Amino acid sequence: MQVKHIQEGPIGIFDSGVGGISVLKEVRKLLPFESITYFADSGNCPYGSKTQEEILFLARKHIEFLLEQNCKLIVIACNTITAVAIDCFRSDYRVPFIGMEPALKPAALQTRTKKIGVLATKNTFNGKLFKQTLEKHASGLEVFIQPGYGLVELVEKGEQNSENARRLLEKYLSPMMEKGADTLVLGCTHYPFLKEMIEAVTQNRVAILDPSDAVAAQTKRILSEFDLVSQETDSPSFRFFTTGEKEMAEKFLSFAVSDPFVLEQIPG
Ligand code: DGL
Repeated sequence: MQVKHIQEGPIGIFDSGVGGISVLKEVRKLLPFESITYFADSGNCPYGSKTQEEILFLARKHIEFLLEQNCKLIVIACNTITAVAIDCFRSDYRVPFIGMEPALKPAALQTRTKKIGVLATKNTFNGKLFKQTLEKHASGLEVFIQPGYGLVELVEKGEQNSENARRLLEKYLSPMMEKGADTLVLGCTHYPFLKEMIEAVTQNRVAILDPSDAVAAQTKRILSEFDLVSQETDSPSFRFFTTGEKEMAEKFLSFAVSDPFVLEQIPG
């Protein structure tokens, strides 16, 4: 399916669930005059343990939904979907796509011990983007790769401050800290919602890197490059679609953004 650039349309933001709200927050901050349409596939979340075919099938369906909403650019606010599908989308659709990339470059610049940890989904680690980023930016570093099994599910249920979250984070982060990691890359957009718990578990002994602000900056650059920036006089709208529970989306949205929003539940 080919879709034309629509200059006056909203920015589309897509994630397997509420995690991409961490990116939405930064995009909102940096681009306050842009309308935004967010799609959360919470009804089918998590994507991290699905097959590539399943992810591609679901993601394509939802990207086409966003294109039907006239989105002029789409931010894939999900490391897993970026890893599996962004190359296909870039070749199949004409709107610009922005993806997530694990923050290995800033981690490499910042670590003192030359040991860093990365927390992401299994599918993100398996993707070629992660391997390329690792080769490009992390040579000479010791990198501890840790799939965050179960963490996305906890965030989706609003249980980011629960005992279960603490237990899982202790299990995942203690070994890398014992080996000397001083920097932790969050390679999944759900994980910034666990930041407080990560700080508690690591007793603030690691620097936590979240690429959301860099993704927002890249969105701004690409909008300018394609001449798609909205004018200050435009009054932005903000719509949020979820295939999951409206109440949960509302909870995350209300603590992440202060703007009024339209929230709709649609079938997955
Ligand atoms: N927010 C997604 C990511 O960044 C979560 C993936 C999932 O649904 O498991 O990878």
